[in-house]
Amino acid sequence: NAFHSDEYVAFLKNVTTDTMDQYPDAVDRYNLSADCPVFDGLYEYCQTYVGGSLSGAARINQKTSDIVLNWSGGMHHAKKAEASGFCYINDIVLAILELLKVHMRVLYIDIDIHHGDGVEEAFYLTNRVMTLSFHQSGVGGFFPGTGHANDCGAKAGKNYSLNFPLQAGMDDESYASIFKPVVTKVMESFQPGAVVLCCGADSIAGDRVGCWNLSIKGHAACLEHMKTYDVPLLVLGGGGYTIRNVSRCWAYETAKLLDQHISDDMPWHEHVGYYGPDYKLHVPISNMENDNTREDLERQTQRLLQQLSHLEAAPNVQIQTGQPGVRRAPDGFGIHDDSEDDDDADYRARHAKRVHLAEYFDEDDASGDRMDAGKIGLHQLIDPPSDDEL
Ligand code: CO
Repeated sequence: NAFHSDEYVAFLKNVTTDTMDQYPDAVDRYNLSADCPVFDGLYEYCQTYVGGSLSGAARINQKTSDIVLNWSGGMHHAKKAEASGFCYINDIVLAILELLKVHMRVLYIDIDIHHGDGVEEAFYLTNRVMTLSFHQSGVGGFFPGTGHANDCGAKAGKNYSLNFPLQAGMDDESYASIFKPVVTKVMESFQPGAVVLCCGADSIAGDRVGCWNLSIKGHAACLEHMKTYDVPLLVLGGGGYTIRNVSRCWAYETAKLLDQHISDDMPWHEHVGYYGPDYKLHVPISNMENDNTREDLERQTQRLLQQLSHLEAAPNVQIQTGQPGVRRAPDGFGIHDDSEDDDDADYRARHAKRVHLAEYFDEDDASGDRMDAGKIGLHQLIDPPSDDEL
């Protein structure tokens, strides 16, 4: 319960497919339908992937490992008291909180095609976690609709959230041309003690949900780049909806992170039938149009480099450090933190659902190309909470 509400976790633990009909309000409130159904073994499933990410963070804290992989993790959409986009418990937020016990600064990079909204929101107000998400723009209604270029963090966390919204058809060359300069500058100016990566494979060519055109090698190039820094990596999975390509991608990336050669010829195994007719590891990219222009990519790269330069230009912005080894959330963590004030609890119950924290800090000039809130199912935008509530 370092991040999620006790009530939400208790509900996930106790609800079954047989009993869910008795709790229609809770099922609705926690968004346990459509993308996020109740199913048998749900809680055990959550425990399993969260346990993997948490023990990975612990191994990094103890310096037992310098790279940890958990392809079952990476559930970046889950919120404090709400499931979203196939995510129930946010193992990424929990793992980052674990890393913060030892590391002053943790960097989160998200190369899933969807915006890493749950993680960004959790750390939106702190400067101890920098979040960087490359994703398909939400302007056309693409899920989850957040991750606007102007959403850059707030309060102590201002400029510590970075978003790179993109258009359909991203290819390897375009991706490398933005990833490397931005990440290089991030590593230089933020100097994280650990990096957490969400490596959703829905950003590769041929995904059933995604609309990009990355090869597996192009996707893996991001991990290979991160490996060149002498910083521990917690590598997590995420989305991916053409399943045979997800396993191809993560198998290749596992090999790359282990410095092992892996053949393009699929060896025989009991599921080899899924990989026909070619039985190859790598999949061809398509001839789809790349809607991202060179100018757009360059302009947005410069914008993020500019945002990062504000960090250096602001000597009064000090990193807020918790005491290493003490279970303590960073200052500004969790706008919806539990408090003893019942009025606050009521306020949250009424308003917290489906409004990304970035909405509170939206400036007039930033709203022009914001997503269509109605289209993507966001509830009414509400007044910003007062400083007391934050
Ligand atoms: Co995704």
